[in-house]
This record gives sequence, structure tokens and C-alpha cells, in this order.
Amino acid sequence: MKIIVVDKKLSRKKCTCVVLNEKARVNRFLIDGKREILEIKVPKKEEMTMRQWIILVRTIVQEAKKYNLGRVEILWKDLTSFDNLDKELGQVFAEAAYMAHYEFRKYKTVPKEGFGDVGEIVVIVNKTDKTLKRQDVRKGVTIATQVNFCRDLANTPGCDMTPAQLVATTRKAIKGTKIKMRVMDEKQMRRKKMNGVLSVGQGSANQSRFMILEYIGTAPNKKPTVLVGKGVTFDSGGIDTKPHPFGLEMMMDMSGGAAVIATMLTVAKLKTKKNIVALIPVVENMASGHSYRPGDIVTMMDGTHVEVGHTDAEGRLILADALTYAKMYKPTQVIDVATLTGAALVALGERASAIFTDDDELAQQTLKSAEKTGDYAWRLPLWDEYSAEIAGTYGDISNIRTKGQPGIGGAITAAMFLKHFVKDHKQWMHIDIAPTMTAVFDEQLAKGAKGSPVRLLVDLLEK
Ligand code: BES
Ligand code: ZN
Ligand code: ZN
Repeated sequence: MKIIVVDKKLSRKKCTCVVLNEKARVNRFLIDGKREILEIKVPKKEEMTMRQWIILVRTIVQEAKKYNLGRVEILWKDLTSFDNLDKELGQVFAEAAYMAHYEFRKYKTVPKEGFGDVGEIVVIVNKTDKTLKRQDVRKGVTIATQVNFCRDLANTPGCDMTPAQLVATTRKAIKGTKIKMRVMDEKQMRRKKMNGVLSVGQGSANQSRFMILEYIGTAPNKKPTVLVGKGVTFDSGGIDTKPHPFGLEMMMDMSGGAAVIATMLTVAKLKTKKNIVALIPVVENMASGHSYRPGDIVTMMDGTHVEVGHTDAEGRLILADALTYAKMYKPTQVIDVATLTGAALVALGERASAIFTDDDELAQQTLKSAEKTGDYAWRLPLWDEYSAEIAGTYGDISNIRTKGQPGIGGAITAAMFLKHFVKDHKQWMHIDIAPTMTAVFDEQLAKGAKGSPVRLLVDLLEK
């Protein structure tokens, strides 16, 4: 799909004109041989919000796809005739349109009538209208292309996205960019005593990896921001196996890693002036005769003895070693992204990721970026009192709640576990994206992975 911005009247080509109307249901009718109208219902002028506007743009694209319309024209004046909208909408428009156009088709046979792609969205602007800048549209397209790449990575089933395959796909994607990549195999991880990663991966026939991506966007001696992404290519739960249907979407348990990879690609393409490192422990959590067991004690890379209360709480084990590894870079900021807990989903539903940080300023900035980009988020606490709840019985700490009622506040328990490994970092933030792993029914996006929080991370890094 292409977005074309033109500053003239409607063209004479065969096309569909989008008309916004408070009363319309979505409707489509022909007005002459060439031109037809696609009516889209919109709220009253004064009732529009940015959140709804994003959905509106996506609705236009999804409707156009549904009716197999090759070329769609819309007047920018109509699209922006609402109160309460931001001033510069080009980037938001492009992101919304591209994300709505995406579908995961790798395993779909092409239907006879084709997939119904929208070839072109033509946006007609008035010459005096400065609210649509072409460079903003280009930026939005760059970001959304990577969001969609992230969705491809996450949607690919576990059989075709093993740790080695995630590494290979990433290697191919970074070709031609300034990103440098290093990959550790199990032997190299053993030398570094990364037993958190190794234990989780030891039950799988597919070997674990540790991916390191480095992007130098400013003076090489400037300390970097480190991004850490959970890369569980499939989470069966391990010996504490997930019952049906909870394993079904667990090929997406590397969504944090995928988001971090896509973010690196985006900043490289946008030439962001920052040094950024991405660390992605990549494992498959499987049940076999080689698996780590409930009750095992794992001596982590930093020496902490962790008792395994539950083999399905694997994400925090691999992230902990990555957070230890991150210290080597003396980073100015560390942000980890993970589909970490079902508990975050219970707490927030599917409409916001959970963010955790002791840095109030970073929290505020993140919430602002979240609202602006559409990768919505909500803050949960990281108070010291919670740390007592993961005290170990035989080891130093446990990977699940050991005190009081089991299972409650699980998103915070997991965050406190991570905090144990980052106590030296001044600026650390954990983003639990389990809630926003997949699209919600009314978000006008294809079913499956949503690509959160790539837009949020890019916006934060550009600040
Ligand atoms: N990958 C899951 C969390 C998850 C659940 C992500 C649903 C996306 C959607 C994680 O590894 C997990 O299983 N966590 C457990 C931890 C529990 C056993 C302490 C959970 O949250 O239930
Ligand atoms: Zn798990
Ligand atoms: Zn998991």
C-alpha cells in the first residue's frame, strides 16, 4: 500500500471517495461509472478524540480492504475537521493506515479474487493546509513497517521461529543498516555462567541463543540506552505445563524481543542520534527429560541462587541474566520489554501495557508517549515492601510469590524479581506487554500480534 499526498482536486481515475458522515453506517454506493462513495460513520465534531481518530483511519483502510478497493481518495480537510485533534497528524495517519492494512499471510493460500489489498490511499490536501507534512507521513510509514515486521515475527508459529530462526531472520533484516550483531550460543553462555537463560532452554531440542544488537547513532564513547527483550519462541510452561488453551498463543512469547528488534531497525532507519544496545535472550521453554524442574536451584549470572517455584515463570529468569549482562555497558537507561505475566492481563485487561519504574519522570514521560503513540500503558508500583514476598526458602529468592496468598499481584512479583538484578541501574523501566500482545476486537487491526510497544519505544528514544 502507498500513501500519496496530492494538492489538487479529486482525480479522474477510477477510485473510491471516502466520505465521513455522522449518520452513516458504513456504506458504499456508485455515483458514476468511475467514482464510488464509501461512507464512514464518525462521532460529532466536538466528541472526537485522538484515540477515536486513530480507529477512524484504521476503519477506512479496513473497509477499503473488505470491499477490495484498489484506490481510495480522501480529503484531508474532511479527515481533520474535528475538534480536539493534535496539530500534526501525518505520522499518526500513516501509522494507523499501515497497521490496519497489515495481515499475516505467510500461511494463507492466495484466494482466487486476491487478498483485497489497497494499492493507494490518496490524501488530497489544500495547498494552504500545513497540518500534513510529507516527512511526517514518511516517518510514520517507516515506523509502522517495523511494527508490522514485529507482528510477523510474533505471529510465526514456534515450529518456524526457533531461537536459531529468530537469529537468522534478524540477521537478514539488519542487512544494509548500521546495526552490528553478535550472537552467543550455549557454549559461550555457559562460559559466562548465564544459567538463567540456559536452565529455561535446557528442555528444548532447539538450542538457546543470546542476541546482541548495537547501534551507534552518536559519539561512540557516549553511554548507551540498553533495551532488553524476552525472546521465548514458544512457552509450553515447561514441566508445569500450560493446560489447553493457554499454550495456543505462546509462539508470541518472544513479542518483547521482536519489539526490541523492530525498534532497533526503526532507529537505524530514522538515524536517531543515540547509542542503543539490544539484548535478547532467545529460548524455547519445553517439557522433556532435560527440562529444569520445579524445586531446582539456579545460580544466576550474578551469583543469586534462584529457586524455581514454577517452570512457567521462565521469562524473569532469562531477563535477569540479560539485565546482569546489561551492566557491562554502564547504560544511562535500561528498558526491558516482555510478555511476562498473565497477571498483568488480569490487572489491566487488554488495553494497556503495565509499566514499572522508580523514576517518576521517566514514568510520566512514558505515559505521555504512550498516549501520543497509541501504545497505551499504565503504571504499577515497585515498592520495596513487595520484595519480601519472593524470599527464597532454600535459595536466595524464588521466581514466584512465596509469602501470603499465592498468585496475587503476580505482575508486581515478577517486576520485583527483575528489580533484584538491576539494583545498580539508576534508570530502569520494565514494560509487561502481556496485556497488549494481541489486537483487541474493536481496534480495527488483524487478529493476532499487535506489535506493541514499538511506537512507544521509538518515541521515547527520540526524546
Ligand atoms: N508467557 C507467560 C505470560 C503470558 C500469559 C503472556 C498470557 C501473554 C499472555 C509467562 O511466562 C507465564 O506463564 N507467567 C505465569 C507466571 C506464573 C506461573 C507465576 C503467569 O503469569 O501466569
Ligand atoms: Zn511461562
Ligand atoms: Zn512466558
